[in-house]
Amino acid sequence: MVGGKDFQKKMTIKTRPVAKVLDGKLCAALIRARLQNEISLMKRKPKLVVIIVGDNPASKIYVRNKAKYAAEVGIESEVVALPEDVSEKKLLSVIKKLNKNKKVNGILVQLPLPKHIDEFTVINAIASEKDVDGFTIENKGLLSIGRPRLLPCTPLGIITLLRYYKVGIKGKNVVVIGRSNIVGKPVAQLFTMLDATVTLCHSQTKNLAEVASGADILVSAVGKPNLVKGSFIKLGAVVVDVAMNRNADNTGWVGDAVRRDVEKKASYFTPVPGGVGPMTIAMLLQNTLAAYKIQQGDEQSVENFLMEREG
Ligand code: GUN
Repeated sequence: MVGGKDFQKKMTIKTRPVAKVLDGKLCAALIRARLQNEISLMKRKPKLVVIIVGDNPASKIYVRNKAKYAAEVGIESEVVALPEDVSEKKLLSVIKKLNKNKKVNGILVQLPLPKHIDEFTVINAIASEKDVDGFTIENKGLLSIGRPRLLPCTPLGIITLLRYYKVGIKGKNVVVIGRSNIVGKPVAQLFTMLDATVTLCHSQTKNLAEVASGADILVSAVGKPNLVKGSFIKLGAVVVDVAMNRNADNTGWVGDAVRRDVEKKASYFTPVPGGVGPMTIAMLLQNTLAAYKIQQGDEQSVENFLMEREG
């Protein structure tokens, strides 16, 4: 044997697993290409309407990106920009009109909304079959009983990315940090549905590092740089970082996790940027096509790979 037993042992000790990147940018591009291909064969194109209220700079960037990628895959899109002081009544009447418009397949209200508008009322005014964010009580209820229809984009993007890299979910210990309605809660429900054992942590969780370090798959969706350190990460864990925080000198983006610690300990991880972010937009486009199909009464053909079980 080359080098003998001692040499082999030394090499085994020295070579620790190299953390592999879960490339959301690549996976999202492949999904968009598939959507573009399918949509190019359709006579009538799906249409997405994005409603934005006020001048939140981050929201404006998100909305611009959503419209840009929609156009790229052949989804028609329209942005309805309403002033910061628009009344809730007016916003509700805009949504009702879009609900009735048969040419509109997807409706998304960009969050957050100004304080004088009740988010719950507005979101639930959207017809559930056009709710491409998966935020209405009907779509959330369907997910909670394990019969998902239109799913929130970020949770769906996370699962899609893990599936793309053949990261097993069934029977795994999943720890989710953050209990938001947009990410933490629905992703915990999705993992549960896919036969993982899930722990949902939040700001009041005791011994967070200890709990997190039990995870085979660790998801952080908090928005706090440097929250997830080496002590949170089991050797060989999969780390999914959902956060997009400005870095210290405001020149770029960082997630919740300390990148060098992740690289030392994880088997796979999502980079920030280029991990979960691009997947979210790809899932919005996929949901718009799914909504179109649901409205045609073609629910069966909605690509619901989530219902495919792991062996
Ligand atoms: N604001 C931040 N994330 C989201 C999202 O996923 N959907 C909407 N509508 N607004 C958001």
